Amino acid sequence: MSAQEFYSRWAALYDLVSRRTPGVSRTRARVADALGLELGDTVVEMGCGTGANLERLRDRVGPEGRVVGVDFSPGVLDRAADHVARNGWRNVHLVRGDATHPPIDEADAVLATFVVGMFADPAGVVERWCDLLGPGGRIALLNAARSRRPYGPLVNLPFRGFVRVSTPERRRLETPAHELLDRRVEAGHAALDRRCERVVHEEHALGLLRLAAGRVL
Ligand SMILES: C[S@@+](CC[C@H](N)C(=O)[O-])C[C@H]1O[C@@H](n2cnc3c(N)ncnc32)[C@H](O)[C@@H]1O
Repeated sequence: MSAQEFYSRWAALYDLVSRRTPGVSRTRARVADALGLELGDTVVEMGCGTGANLERLRDRVGPEGRVVGVDFSPGVLDRAADHVARNGWRNVHLVRGDATHPPIDEADAVLATFVVGMFADPAGVVERWCDLLGPGGRIALLNAARSRRPYGPLVNLPFRGFVRVSTPERRRLETPAHELLDRRVEAGHAALDRRCERVVHEEHALGLLRLAAGRVL
C-alpha cells in the first residue's frame, strides 16, 4: 500500500492518535515554541496530516500571519480541512503536494513532525527546505526513534511493534522498519545541524521523541 493510500484509509484513527497520545501534545507545543515564530510570520508545515499542529502554529503567528499545511494524502487533508472550516481559520491554508519538492516559494519557518522518517533521502529534503527558507529562516523537526537512554531496551520493544504497524511500505522493506526510521531521522537531523546555527536538540517521552530546531545560516 502506498503512503497516500495508507494515510487516507487510516485518517480517522490517525487523527485520534495524533491528538490524544499522552505526552505528545506537550512535545508538539514545545516544537512549535522552538520555531521562535513571530506575529505575522508565514509558517509551512510539511506533511501536516490531519492538522494536529495547525492551531498551535496559528496561535503563534496571529491573525496577520499565515499557516500553510502541505500533505500528499487526500484523506488526512480532508480531516484537516474539516478542523479548519469548523474553527473558521481564514489564515490557515491546505495544499495537496509533495513535501519533498514543496509547492511553496517563500516562508519564514518550516515545521515537520513525524515526517522526515518517511523520506528515502531525508537529508536532501531538509537541505531543500533550508534553501526555500534562506538565511535567518527557522526550521524545526520532531521525530520518533528508538530511545538511547539506559532503559531504552524496555521501551524500544513496544516501540518497534508500533513502528512496524504504522509503516505503510513495511512488507517491501529489506531493513527492519525501526532501523530504517532511526537512520532516516538521524540523517535528517544531521542535515539541519549542517545548515543551521543556534541549533537545539532535545529528547522527550522517555527518549522516543527527538526534536531538532535551528536558524538557517
Ligand atoms: C506520521 S504522519 C504525521 C502527520 C503530522 N505531521 C502529525 O504530526 O500528526 C505523516 C504524514 O506525512 C505525509 N507525507 C509523507 N510523505 C509525504 C510527502 N512526500 N509529501 C507530502 N506529505 C507526505 C503523510 O501523508 C502523512 O499525513
